[in-house]
Amino acid sequence: MTGKLKFTRAAMVAVMVAVASAGAISTAEARVAPGTNIVGGTLASTAQAPWAIALNNSQSPVPSGQYCGATLVKANKIVTAAHCVTKARSTYTAVQGRDKLSTTTGRTSKISSIWKDPLYGRAPGHDVAVLTLTTPFTGVPTLPLETSRAADAVGAQPVVYGWGNTEGTGPADTFQKVTVPVLGDSYCGQVYAGYDYVADGEICAGYKEGGKDSCQGDSGGPLVLNGRLFGVVSWGIGCADAGNPGVYAEVATYASALTAQINS
Ligand code: ARG
Repeated sequence: MTGKLKFTRAAMVAVMVAVASAGAISTAEARVAPGTNIVGGTLASTAQAPWAIALNNSQSPVPSGQYCGATLVKANKIVTAAHCVTKARSTYTAVQGRDKLSTTTGRTSKISSIWKDPLYGRAPGHDVAVLTLTTPFTGVPTLPLETSRAADAVGAQPVVYGWGNTEGTGPADTFQKVTVPVLGDSYCGQVYAGYDYVADGEICAGYKEGGKDSCQGDSGGPLVLNGRLFGVVSWGIGCADAGNPGVYAEVATYASALTAQINS
């Protein structure tokens, strides 16, 4: 398997199962398997990050239903990744206020409609979507969108949140966070040459030496800077590997399209 690995955890598990049954691990598959849940992060609390939403899916192979992340941007609207919304609308559940997905704490909502950036898959970037909740999370703090492209500056210190794979660096299906410094468009343009990294539309963040990163299952979740939704977890090659940082959809680039959907 070649190409950029823009997998949900469900897809990753499917690959791992396929690899296990085939009894051989190719190089590209091996890159996928050794991920971590937010890799190298620390425990986070949805009480402190109430706008962080777990976007579960009934077709996830993970018993908890863990699938993707999202961000509450209005009582009835969440922003996630376009690549997270390939399944039937009825299979999704948005979960708010649940640190451990094995529990039933917090609030849930089904999804009444899905808007996916129409250019996703046709042009590089555009990995954003807006979902409408059937049951608004009324009273829960929301996160405003970053609207300035100048926020994507080398050295900025955003924090990414999620319930995804920890590659053994933390408990499974548990809310985690990690700071991932912005490395800049030129770095990802170099290390991801041939992978369609797009400077105007993506953010390159993580550590050149690896060790800390978002990972499979974190997709769609928030990258937060200055109290605003700065990025959306999108893709990477493996997780937390040296020279392969995380790539995030740049919210400021898509802010006007997102805002139109959020206000619709
Ligand atoms: N595409 C992955 C998902 O669907 C997220 C990948 C993030 N990878 C990374 N190395 N930061 O969950």
